[in-house]
Amino acid sequence: MTDISIPADPRPDTILAELRALLAAEDPLFTQLANAASLLYWSLERVNWLGVYLLHGNQLVLGPFHGKPACTLIAAGSGVCGTAVVEKRTMVVPDVQAFPGHIACDDASRSEVVVPLRSGERVWGVLDVDSPVPDRFGPGDVTLLERAAAMLDQRMLAAGGKLFPLDTLC
Ligand code: SME
Repeated sequence: MTDISIPADPRPDTILAELRALLAAEDPLFTQLANAASLLYWSLERVNWLGVYLLHGNQLVLGPFHGKPACTLIAAGSGVCGTAVVEKRTMVVPDVQAFPGHIACDDASRSEVVVPLRSGERVWGVLDVDSPVPDRFGPGDVTLLERAAAMLDQRMLAAGGKLFPLDTLC
């Protein structure tokens, strides 16, 4: 069993070291995505939602997250998440109400950052973070989240794209 401790010191290197340890354990990718969402959610201040959506065909499907129940399906090209998929770039939205087509899952959200999860040129999902504070996310947060996303990308590659090693529950 992995020793899980949320760092009291929220420096990026500390958070990423914790993430590296989680991802080094012999757990299924699905399990590690759940713990990664928890770690990042509890390590960042002033966030109300953090999680992953996984790309299945042309739809983002809700994956492991922390926060209120959220939209379960988002089409590629829709909202901030779907735009990040199509444009294959990090979206930083200082004011979600000013983003055309923003999908409001939690009325409290005021700003958002979405980082595409990638395997080479292929996008396999997004890492999505919402804050109740306008303009919450600065360059340091974006760098942290992009480094975290790159670690998830590496782990996904190592897992051969399988959320579960046997790809079935029973
Ligand atoms: N706001 C996102 C939808 C996902 S929720 O924030 C969890 C969007 O516009 O794509």
